[in-house]
Amino acid sequence: MTAPLPARNLETPGGRVLVFANKADASVAAARQIASTIDAARTLRGKACIGLSTGATPTGVYRHLVELHRSDGLSFRDVSTFNLDEYYGVSPAEEHSYRYYMHQHLFAHVDLSPNRSHVLDGTTPEFAVDAHCAEYERWIELDGGLDLQLLGIGRNGHIGFNEPQSLDLAKALALRTHLIYLHPTTIEDGARDFGGDASLVPRQALTMGVATILAARSILILAFGAAKRPATMRALFEAPTMEIPASLIQTVRDRVVWIVDAEAID
Ligand code: GLP
Repeated sequence: MTAPLPARNLETPGGRVLVFANKADASVAAARQIASTIDAARTLRGKACIGLSTGATPTGVYRHLVELHRSDGLSFRDVSTFNLDEYYGVSPAEEHSYRYYMHQHLFAHVDLSPNRSHVLDGTTPEFAVDAHCAEYERWIELDGGLDLQLLGIGRNGHIGFNEPQSLDLAKALALRTHLIYLHPTTIEDGARDFGGDASLVPRQALTMGVATILAARSILILAFGAAKRPATMRALFEAPTMEIPASLIQTVRDRVVWIVDAEAID
């Protein structure tokens, strides 16, 4: 398939925005961006380190990455992956875990070594959470840092599970991997993965922090559909604030590309 071209290419305070006619084209473009980052990193330092996200948004991206692997020679042999977040209290074996999601959508279909795919462990006992989060940071560092972090945006403007809150900007920008309480909007949106029952959605999650995410050498953030438009517009154009965590991406705008569909932006 030839690479789809964006219908619009915008420079915004939040970084460059490539607007595609629809989610399918945008997903192909995002997958190709990830594939070329992997190739470039492999050429530069013999390996690549990619941060991954979950949710409804990136499923088409993973589908196309699998296609590139099957028919276009894309290999994950020298690639390490680090997922953004995981529900707390959910075992990797459960189908609601993000580990399971990754297995279903990507890991089982490509030549990524099992010991190179990292997802935070939702079963970590509370007393060991800080150590587990610090270890996750250390693993990323040992792999040479993230070449690319793939992100979605929550309807409330969250990235990973960094939820909206009134927090001093400097403190927000210093957040590392940590345990959080989910925002009511996130619980409401998460219900669709729990048979529509919000009471079944975990109340806590482990997430890379804002600082962990923003340290990536490049950031690819996706926003698809009209429901994401208000948060996307605020993240792109309003002054950076932890009330809209995705707006903090403006602080590293030179390293950011937004890939959105026509419905997600005015
Ligand atoms: C989820 C994930 C995020 C994701 C976001 C958007 O809850 N924790 O990593 O980017 O919320 O989700 P969706 O793509 O399903 O709208």
